[in-house]
Amino acid sequence: MHERSDFLIIGSGIAGLRAAADLAAHGTVTILTKADPTESNTGYAQGGIAAAIGVEDSPEEHFADTMAAGDGLCDEDAVRVLVEDGVTYVQELLEWGAAFDRDATGQPALGREGAHRVRRVLHARDATGREIGRVLWSRVAADPRVRVLRHSRATRLVVRNHRCEGAIFEDGGRGGTIEARSVLLATGGAGQVYSDTTNPAIATGDGAVMAWHAGARVADLEFVQFHPTALALEGMPRFLLSEALRGEGAWLINADGERFMSRYERGGELASRDLVSRAMVTEVARTGRPVFLSLQHLDPDWVHRRFPTIAAACQAAGLDLARDPIPVSPAAHYLMGGVETDICARTTLPGLHAAGEVACTGVHGANRLASNSLLEGLVFGARAVQAMLAPPAAGEMNNVRVVDGGPVEWLLAAEAAPPARPDLDHEVRKVMWTAVGLIREERALAPAVEQLATWSRRSNLATLGYLIARAALRREESRGGHFRADVPSRDDLNWRFHVAEKHSP
Ligand code: FAD
Ligand code: SIN
Repeated sequence: MHERSDFLIIGSGIAGLRAAADLAAHGTVTILTKADPTESNTGYAQGGIAAAIGVEDSPEEHFADTMAAGDGLCDEDAVRVLVEDGVTYVQELLEWGAAFDRDATGQPALGREGAHRVRRVLHARDATGREIGRVLWSRVAADPRVRVLRHSRATRLVVRNHRCEGAIFEDGGRGGTIEARSVLLATGGAGQVYSDTTNPAIATGDGAVMAWHAGARVADLEFVQFHPTALALEGMPRFLLSEALRGEGAWLINADGERFMSRYERGGELASRDLVSRAMVTEVARTGRPVFLSLQHLDPDWVHRRFPTIAAACQAAGLDLARDPIPVSPAAHYLMGGVETDICARTTLPGLHAAGEVACTGVHGANRLASNSLLEGLVFGARAVQAMLAPPAAGEMNNVRVVDGGPVEWLLAAEAAPPARPDLDHEVRKVMWTAVGLIREERALAPAVEQLATWSRRSNLATLGYLIARAALRREESRGGHFRADVPSRDDLNWRFHVAEKHSP
């Protein structure tokens, strides 16, 4: 199959669907999605979407909290766009019928999460992403100009004359090529590069690797966010226990039933995720026993009503969320880095745009504020549309390095991404978890980089692991989600900049 569409979107999470909702008015849209269209990180999002809509809040306050979480590396212009446009696009979601929880006055109920100084998180119980996905999907699926190719995995971007003009995909059959005037990468995150992750199986970082292979610049890959509270039961996936639980009063306790967070962090249970995660690991090392989330002091009926999805997952594991201590440990959750973009979602490769978790817009800096990710996907998915409509012009993008002419070049199927290798990928995940995880140091990073470099010829996941590990080895300081035990302080003099990479195809 070799077809043409005006616009190609790769991925059907919040970013891809929000872009599709507007693009369809301007031409034909093809969405490639590698599983069922609703299978995405978006579909699993629990806590909510942050927006400064409360009477005691303002975009200025949201800006300040986002900048503080980013630990000196946020792009101020991008953050301003996020918090200001965010209000508009969240209001639009409400107009489109998003059934967020309401308070007694009928206004959206606002939840609290770590490192937010005020309540500003809109939510649909504890399944916010599913509700947002439902609203966006119902708009997109009804539009005859949008064609969705399910179970179709993009493996390579098509590049001609240093411009992205489509993608090659496989679908279990013969696969094919879709050419388009503009391409949007919306492939989401990469939690699956770690053995312990909250992310579903689709989150393998394909977009960042494809973009890197095609010559787009990637940045900030060393900044990985580890969520403190994943359900920690032997042999079970690390199901997320939303930060909203702690936002509503849940405690972290040790095996003796003592709250321990205040001994480590002034912000207690609601300090930023990197601080809470490291405090938990330190407490486990100190006591030699696990730590738990406890809601035993809260009204059990209310707990079950407010968090039905999490309560059901706990019940399936033989635990009562409201009455039992729930064993927790940190797990890889979110990649702050990705394909570098400007504030219109343009990458450094003409014709290629990126939005959502695959992108590095600079809104998160070194660490993401809770519930800012759905917001980023929504805002930059929508903003990508204007850039995708603009007529092609080499050199228009931010910081583009256009290499001189040369013959027409295609990245053809012969060079396509190597097939998934379950055994090798299992090894990659283990190495990433032990050497490039929550606590890093040169003596473990250096051999990991070497090992991953060797494997990278055989696996996409290893390529991504290699890029993350190499950036982590390079950054000789600790900041945000990147903690080096051998250089534990932040070093603004030498390191207040981004580590970016570009591959020459
Ligand atoms: P995704 O929603 O992940 O969508 C990516 C899409 O790309 C999928 O359709 C996938 O199948 C497709 N895809 C991937 N690779 C390919 C390929 N090669 N070819 C074709 N298709 C491909 N953030 C918040 O702000 N608030 C929350 O409450 C929250 N809770 C979370 C809870 C969990 C358990 C997880 C895992 C994340 C949570 N996050 C939350 C983070 C947030 O959900 C994600 O960052 C966000 O949804 C990403 O949206 P996206 O559109 O960029 O990507
Ligand atoms: C959560 O509900 O804890 C996840 C929120 C997020 O990742 O922003």
